[in-house]
Amino acid sequence: MELAGKHIVLGLTGGVACYKGAELARELVKAGATVQVVMTASAQQFVTPLLLQSLTGRPVATTQWDTTQPNAMAHINLSREADAILVAPATADFIARLAQGRCDELLSLLCVARPAERCGLLVAPAMNREMWAHPATQRNAQQVQQDGAVLLGPASGSQACGEIGDGRMLEPLEIRDALIAHFQPKVLKGRRVLITAGPTFEAIDPVRGITNRSSGKMGFAIARAAAEAGAQVTLVAGPVHLPTPWGVTRLDVESARQMHDAVLPLAPSHDLFIATAAVADWRVQAPSDAKIKKVAGQGAPVLAMTENPDILAAVAALPQAPTCVGFAAETHDIERHAREKLQRKRLQLVVANHGPSTFGRDENELLLIDAKGTTALPAADKLTLARHLVAHIAQHHPCRTPPSN
Ligand code: C5P
Repeated sequence: MELAGKHIVLGLTGGVACYKGAELARELVKAGATVQVVMTASAQQFVTPLLLQSLTGRPVATTQWDTTQPNAMAHINLSREADAILVAPATADFIARLAQGRCDELLSLLCVARPAERCGLLVAPAMNREMWAHPATQRNAQQVQQDGAVLLGPASGSQACGEIGDGRMLEPLEIRDALIAHFQPKVLKGRRVLITAGPTFEAIDPVRGITNRSSGKMGFAIARAAAEAGAQVTLVAGPVHLPTPWGVTRLDVESARQMHDAVLPLAPSHDLFIATAAVADWRVQAPSDAKIKKVAGQGAPVLAMTENPDILAAVAALPQAPTCVGFAAETHDIERHAREKLQRKRLQLVVANHGPSTFGRDENELLLIDAKGTTALPAADKLTLARHLVAHIAQHHPCRTPPSN
């Protein structure tokens, strides 16, 4: 219920993506928001107000000449109640109207009438690729952002018209997550954050390998929390089955050496490095190119192992090292082992947890260990913990560069 207590005005304008707008309304309600839909006359050509009313449990507003409102000021009432206005889909025409500050129909009127300092405006464009690429649309999109709106997308891909290119509306779940992010405090605004997550996989032969028990959930939650806090986030992920969080740039790798080679050149241009990956400590020295056959009676093969590079220690030792945060998944003496890791790897912070009780789960509990002391984050879901961790880092471990405004 990430949007519990939030009142959202959801505006639909006239495009095929109105069907996704209806799905979005449902997702926002499922996330706990109260949703007041406003539809333009064109939007009503694509889906009916009845559908949106059924999904949100509220009559849809369609006109500024609404005499059922006691004060007859629908635009003031709607915009004063809202915590944010989200227009999805936003047509080229609607973006042009916003850019001009037009007020001759309800939705654009209430975008202009909203108290901008406490009611954000988020706009998800949806249109044909030529319409999006047109200089007038680009100019209008720029203007709308300069005037304080947040543009979500558009995405690239196949379009209802049969063409392929930029202009597709983002998917409803992406827009929902962008809206959730909008409400988070921007404690890492302008910072660049590099994160490793998941296990690594070290090949024995083309069909077998050695890996670690890590789902990547904690690292992905931290990537999401850092992006929500306004950071530019690069996530280097081992083999996991998780969707990329909203606003995060992802690089997929398999082995520890691939992770090392992806991370090291990126580290100097980042302010903060958070190593959540469960990197395999050893790899097979000489993996076989062909499948090692099982031969009855010959016993198991003996595999010579060699040590993998320590990615976190290598980053912490760089002359241009970012602030470094390590993880410690332990089974016993958690705090002692974590404090030893803090010193040995020369880190600013170690996040310790009890490995076996969290692997693959959605909950965890953490100890944040630094030179000043220990802070306990009690049991919670991983996204909640990730947001607390991000807030703790922002407060206690200022990054190398000052935040940009
Ligand atoms: O030394 P240990 O593996 O216990 O340290 C755990 C921390 O170091 C984690 O933050 C992990 O991501 C990082 N690490 C690494 N490269 C390795 C081993 C661990 O970055 N080869």
